[in-house]
Amino acid sequence: MRLESLRIRGLRCLEDVAVPLGPGVTVFAGANGAGKTSILEAAFLLSHARSFRSGAKDALLQRGAAGLSVFAELRHDDGRGQRIGLGRQGVRWEARVDGDVVSLSELVGECAVVCFEPGSHDLIAGGAEERRRYLDWGVFHVEHEFISAWRRYQRALKQRNVLLRASTVPPEALFLPWEAELDAAAGVIDRLRDLYLTALRPHIEKAMAGLLPELGPMELRYRRGWAEDAPLGELLATQRGRDLARGHTTIGSHRADWSIAFEHAPLREHLSRGQEKLTALGCVLAQASLYAERKGEWPIVCLDDLASELDKAHQAAVVGQLGAVGAQVLVTGTEVPEALQAGPTRVFHVEQGHLAPLL
Ligand SMILES: Nc1ncnc2c1ncn2[C@@H]1O[C@H](COP(=O)(O)OP(=O)(O)O)[C@@H](O)[C@H]1O
Ligand SMILES: [Mg+2]
Repeated sequence: MRLESLRIRGLRCLEDVAVPLGPGVTVFAGANGAGKTSILEAAFLLSHARSFRSGAKDALLQRGAAGLSVFAELRHDDGRGQRIGLGRQGVRWEARVDGDVVSLSELVGECAVVCFEPGSHDLIAGGAEERRRYLDWGVFHVEHEFISAWRRYQRALKQRNVLLRASTVPPEALFLPWEAELDAAAGVIDRLRDLYLTALRPHIEKAMAGLLPELGPMELRYRRGWAEDAPLGELLATQRGRDLARGHTTIGSHRADWSIAFEHAPLREHLSRGQEKLTALGCVLAQASLYAERKGEWPIVCLDDLASELDKAHQAAVVGQLGAVGAQVLVTGTEVPEALQAGPTRVFHVEQGHLAPLL
């Protein structure tokens, strides 16, 4: 799929910017703080309903602006076109597809954007939350049962946590229905996450063999968030006392995690910063490649600050690979990366939140 145009209003330094986009590679070049990353953020927002940059969603809204909106014309590989948009007025977010108001998950279900950026190494070196988000975005796109199980789980978790924090300990009978619900929903979530990671494994293996062959074969490990040998419902009952003391639910799908171990770097601490980045890149590309296998079209791939994140050989390899499969690629940099200077590339110059075509 690809974006044919992007219209961004009230997002960080972008007051009102229209971005016409072609297939293949587009580069946004400009000085630090010009607004390049914000353009990628706008595309990513349509596909995740959140930014890839950490921090409050409020920071996205341009200072002093009443609202922000991102609209795009999306073209699928089968020729189908869609107009998609996400906007925020006050505290309310609203998503649209072809003029109709839809839920955020419906919007996110239409549009797939993956992003490799300076914060991506958190996927390897950071906390479990980042890895669960990555995993769940992938599962959501290929397994339709996932979203309803996830919602049921979140609701039950919230209710159980309310009980755990009550000023007087509620009777067991109040806990049991929520614990049964958590058990049922977690069963579905765990099965789908596990299936997804199994399907993802060959894609990660292939990506890593290209990016980090020196680390040898890799292994993908998944932890579901509670002991392997007992049903979650039972464990929640036996651990209720401990959870009451902590004031929250300490086991379950919301504590799941996964990791990658290489034969020549069995622990995450064995990876250099550069290797962490390449591993994260491999994960992002693998996720896009699995999406393409399942959906028949590649997601849009954003590469933020490509030249400062990767050496020239890796820049060329990645862009070459994505070019070969026909993915739309949006790249940013203070200059046009050397690896892209030979290929057919559209370049925009970004300056203080404004855009001018260069080539
Ligand atoms: N909420 C906001 N309102 C207005 N400007 C913002 C807001 N958040 C960030 N900015 C500014 O927008 C610019 C963001 O640039 P960014 O897209 O990160 O630039 P680049 O990637 O080109 O370095 C910075 O100059 C920053 O100070
Ligand atoms: Mg930037």
